[in-house]
Amino acid sequence: MNYNKKTVYDIDVAGKKVLLRCDFNVPQDKATGAITSDKRIVAALPTIRYLLGQGAAVIACSHLGKPEPSFEKWVKKQTEKGKDPAELTEEKWQKSLKKLTLAPVAERLSELLGKPVVFAHDVVGPDAKAKAAALKGGEIMLLENTRFEKGETKNDPALAKELASMAEVYVSDAFGSVHRAHASTAGVAAYLPAVSGLLVAKELEVMGKALDDPKRPFVAVLGGAKVSDKIAVINNLLEKADTVIIGGGMAYTFAKAQGGEIGKSLLEEDKCAYALEMIEKAKAKGVKLLLPVDTVAAKEIPADMMGMDIGPKTIELFCAATRGAGTIVWNGPMGVFEFPAFANGTKAMAKALAESGAVTIIGGGDSAAAAEQLGFADKITHISTGGGASLEFLEGKELPGVACLLDK
Ligand code: 3PG
Repeated sequence: MNYNKKTVYDIDVAGKKVLLRCDFNVPQDKATGAITSDKRIVAALPTIRYLLGQGAAVIACSHLGKPEPSFEKWVKKQTEKGKDPAELTEEKWQKSLKKLTLAPVAERLSELLGKPVVFAHDVVGPDAKAKAAALKGGEIMLLENTRFEKGETKNDPALAKELASMAEVYVSDAFGSVHRAHASTAGVAAYLPAVSGLLVAKELEVMGKALDDPKRPFVAVLGGAKVSDKIAVINNLLEKADTVIIGGGMAYTFAKAQGGEIGKSLLEEDKCAYALEMIEKAKAKGVKLLLPVDTVAAKEIPADMMGMDIGPKTIELFCAATRGAGTIVWNGPMGVFEFPAFANGTKAMAKALAESGAVTIIGGGDSAAAAEQLGFADKITHISTGGGASLEFLEGKELPGVACLLDK
């Protein structure tokens, strides 16, 4: 996949209307709706400030959560979840949508920018169109949640065209959503000159380089609960890395596949053959594949116990393998780090990355949260803002939200 895409620096935006896709899919407090982390809004600021500084009129848009824009489908889904259909009124559906309004994001964005953010109460309806038409250079507005439109997740060309009709340029800065082929993340690029924002450009540059032309030795550290989530990542990184370290819950499937006792630890029986295949692939490619040699539970797990973290010898083995590395990519925690008793492995790994002197990249999601929670985030070269997106990047998959942008 070609990551060498045009950016906002390669296109004249002065005085132009720019449709800017951000990833404002922020976490919210379930009860109050308050934004619990504004990191994704902060991450979009450099591009927004640049565009406004160039005199562009910025029409920002994003999805938030997974609203169901069709009442009938909402009823069907709720019924499947066991809700009584008689109680599923149109009013309740409207309420579920209202919870996912982007209005609080517009407010927070305005505070962060120190200037007004006009909020449109629809996506491509009369309010959005009128406000977009009136928007002047140096001003910014935010459209309502793009997933309130039925065509968004279907990548409906009619919706993409409507979105495009409000602007003259499309800028993609929603890295967390570039793995989605939706109308606002990909479809719209068929109707407007499309370039990346600064956040997407940085993600592509750092992760693209790590995968295509890494400073060697290249060490990949993979963790997380399930082998099935990481199949394509393990496979792709065995093609690229010099050392692949596997920890976390998924390592137990590798241990079992090799005849080990894993007690009640996580096991995906149907992935044992795949685990053996990967062990063989590593051998054939001359890639060093490191698996845990002990756990926190016991040296050899008794049949009634469950492994929750890598053990001290494994910590030593894994950390030693990161020393002298040129590039380290890490995705997935080593244990159930949410509990302090099982956070040692993940903490040691984060510390090893921080002290390695290598180009260090953390691929979003849980491992990013772990590095932040454990206090090592500022010592990492790059922490991706994408969870699913960075995983698909590491899998070597084509990302629709990147593929649609103009090549350099
Ligand atoms: C994310 O939070 O990973 C992105 O915003 C994508 O959200 P989605 O999984 O609902 O498409």
